[in-house]
Amino acid sequence: MQKMSLHEALYTQRAIRNFTPYPVSDATVATILDAAVRAPNGGNTQRWSFLVIRDRETKRRFGEWYRDAWSDLVADMNLQRTSAQPYRPSMLTQNMEDIPVLILACLDRPTPGYGPNPITTGSSIYPAVQNIMLAARALGLGTVLTTLHTKHEQEVKALLGIPESVSTAALIPLGYPAQGESFGGGRRRPSAEVTFHERWGQTAAS
Ligand SMILES: Cc1cc2nc3c(=O)[nH]c(=O)nc-3n(C[C@H](O)[C@H](O)[C@H](O)COP(=O)(O)O)c2cc1C
Repeated sequence: MQKMSLHEALYTQRAIRNFTPYPVSDATVATILDAAVRAPNGGNTQRWSFLVIRDRETKRRFGEWYRDAWSDLVADMNLQRTSAQPYRPSMLTQNMEDIPVLILACLDRPTPGYGPNPITTGSSIYPAVQNIMLAARALGLGTVLTTLHTKHEQEVKALLGIPESVSTAALIPLGYPAQGESFGGGRRRPSAEVTFHERWGQTAAS
């Protein structure tokens, strides 16, 4: 198999929310998760686990939890924002059970890190999640990083026997992109606009 360059994977990976029923093999999932565990993590403690979910009933339950959180979110938004892709109906909100695989990325005893700001809490799992998405992209598979299931974290943990000390960081649907979905074309502000030099607010031009 021809290997995709890292550059191409980086520049074309984007959120895919609708998938074909074409199956994703265990070997493919194993390849993707082998990339996941290459990620940086605090102290190399590797307190991550990845639950691979194929069971239809479990996927249906995740669909219900997701839809519940998504409906609340959309109800809170004005119409202009609801036209944005994450807020439109998709297989995530309508038939999650038909998505070939769900990967639940988990972290045991996430630490808030140093200082008063808990922004670093997920920093030992999200690099692995990004590796999952890039490795999947390189294999022609679509993914999307989702977190809405966490509204029902306790129910998720009860259903799947996840220990109390473990947090579910992301639910990553995985499958081949359905017609109408495409890689690439994600809209981003130019990096120069969000890059400062030496002092906050000092862009290259200033
Ligand atoms: C922390 C985080 C949480 C996210 N949660 C969701 C989610 O619950 N549902 C969803 O459809 N997308 C979710 N996304 C995906 C974003 O909507 C997506 O990255 C963004 O819209 C850019 O999309 P693009 O890569 O297709 O351009 C999440 C992304 C991040 C980083």
